[in-house]
Amino acid sequence: MEPLIIDGKKISTDIKDELKAKVNKIKEDGTEITLVVIQIGDDPASTVYVRNKKRACEYIGINSRSYELPGDTSEEELLELINKLNNDSSVNGILVQLPVPDYIDPLNVINAISPEKDVDGFSPYSMGALNLGVDGFLSCTPAGIIELLNRNNIQIDGSHCVVVGRSNIVGKPMASLMLNNNATVTVTHSHTKNLKEICKQADILIVGVGKKEFITSEYVKDGAVVIDVGIHRDSNNKLCGDVLFDDVAPHCSAITPVPGGVGPMTIAMLMNNCVKSVELKNK
Ligand code: GUN
Repeated sequence: MEPLIIDGKKISTDIKDELKAKVNKIKEDGTEITLVVIQIGDDPASTVYVRNKKRACEYIGINSRSYELPGDTSEEELLELINKLNNDSSVNGILVQLPVPDYIDPLNVINAISPEKDVDGFSPYSMGALNLGVDGFLSCTPAGIIELLNRNNIQIDGSHCVVVGRSNIVGKPMASLMLNNNATVTVTHSHTKNLKEICKQADILIVGVGKKEFITSEYVKDGAVVIDVGIHRDSNNKLCGDVLFDDVAPHCSAITPVPGGVGPMTIAMLMNNCVKSVELKNK
């Protein structure tokens, strides 16, 4: 079977172009959109992510402001800055790049961001709204996966979706979003018994476990759709995912590659949340 290779790069560009047109209209009405990105320390992966977020802002016409704070910034100083930005009416979105240093509690940081500016969708308010199925900021990676499925006409309604991994950033919000879209959802994790058998029941298998090439063809039903959220380097230093692509792909009806699948969608959906912050403010 020749699977559809889901093109996240193309879809993310389409979304950014749609947002660019929207932002132009918002600007014509005299409104600017500003995202503030805060990075603590100089973790190289975080530096790349932050740079890409700033580039995306520039592309669609959103102002980006960044704070690059030293690696020994105290939690108190960080919370003070967030509080100042919460009260700054020229700031629409606030994002603290994770992970933060060990001595800072990420939950305190996420909690400090005003729910109206929580463009990552990580706050208890946003997660609660998602669980209740009411409008709010959606967690970017799961929201991007819904876009990938919808824009490839892959039916979610009535499907059995198995989510592998239960992180607060991917697994949990992903399960809620699929449920809100009328899928039957099974969430699996490191303590799940019979993982292979459960994964093999999935019409849509979404994998975010952070284990290199963990999912092989033994986990996949013929004709399934496989979405890979992982990103790693293989022994040849090439990017790869949580799914052993060459082994799994021939069994799928559709699959996301790494790179070029889920990855580019996260930033596109962050940009979508920045635009949404203005729409929510005006409501
Ligand atoms: N670190 C890895 N992914 C993300 C993300 O989506 N948002 C933030 N703030 N930090 C991250």
